[in-house]
Amino acid sequence: MSTGQPNQQSLTGYYRWHARIYDLTRWAFLFGRRRLVQRAAGHVKKPGRILEIGCGTGKNLVHLAEAFPQAEVIGLDLSQDMLDRARPKMERFGKRVSLLHQAYDAPVAGEVKFDLIVFSYSLSMINPGYDEVLKICQQDLSPQGVVAVVDFHESRWAWFRRWMGVNHVRMEGQVLACLRRDFPALLCQVHHGYGDLWRYVLFLGRPVI
Ligand SMILES: C[S@@+](CC[C@H](N)C(=O)[O-])C[C@H]1O[C@@H](n2cnc3c(N)ncnc32)[C@H](O)[C@@H]1O
Repeated sequence: MSTGQPNQQSLTGYYRWHARIYDLTRWAFLFGRRRLVQRAAGHVKKPGRILEIGCGTGKNLVHLAEAFPQAEVIGLDLSQDMLDRARPKMERFGKRVSLLHQAYDAPVAGEVKFDLIVFSYSLSMINPGYDEVLKICQQDLSPQGVVAVVDFHESRWAWFRRWMGVNHVRMEGQVLACLRRDFPALLCQVHHGYGDLWRYVLFLGRPVI
């Protein structure tokens, strides 16, 4: 596995333990994941290939495979521990859904590009490197493809931003700024989590051709 992005080793260490409690705990704060797949389905008709970067334990892969029954779905993640949790959930889809154990530090599409690339709460953990990752994504998307992102946006509470930093999450508006700069938007919504404790973003955009 490449270690081109400097925080990769600490992330794999973090998820070695967190993979065990991930599905039990994350439903309580990773909001908007199901909604993102539903919104994407409104913009991407019959995609041939779908990629999720940082697929973790595979919750979105299941929803993507169900929402797009004709599509090949690939989940990529740098944590083997997270992928080990995802694998049993993929069995019912057979060869149509596959998992890649690697960091996203180079294009993976080959000749047939992806019609939909999903980032669900992964970009806010790639620090530094989220902007390079989005440039790689531009290369992996087909010209009519869509990038779909749900992620932490920001919090006005410094103690909360610090706590999220302990959990490898940077929430200073950097992800949305980069998305807006690099991808013409089809959808851009900012929502609140637990009153105004934090805000999260749903974004759909096209690659720049
Ligand atoms: C918060 S989890 C999100 C998992 C899943 N997408 C979800 O919504 O439940 C972030 C995931 O991104 C992965 N990740 C972080 N940086 C990555 C990178 N550079 N390349 C591939 N995966 C990465 C982590 O290993 C982790 O599984």
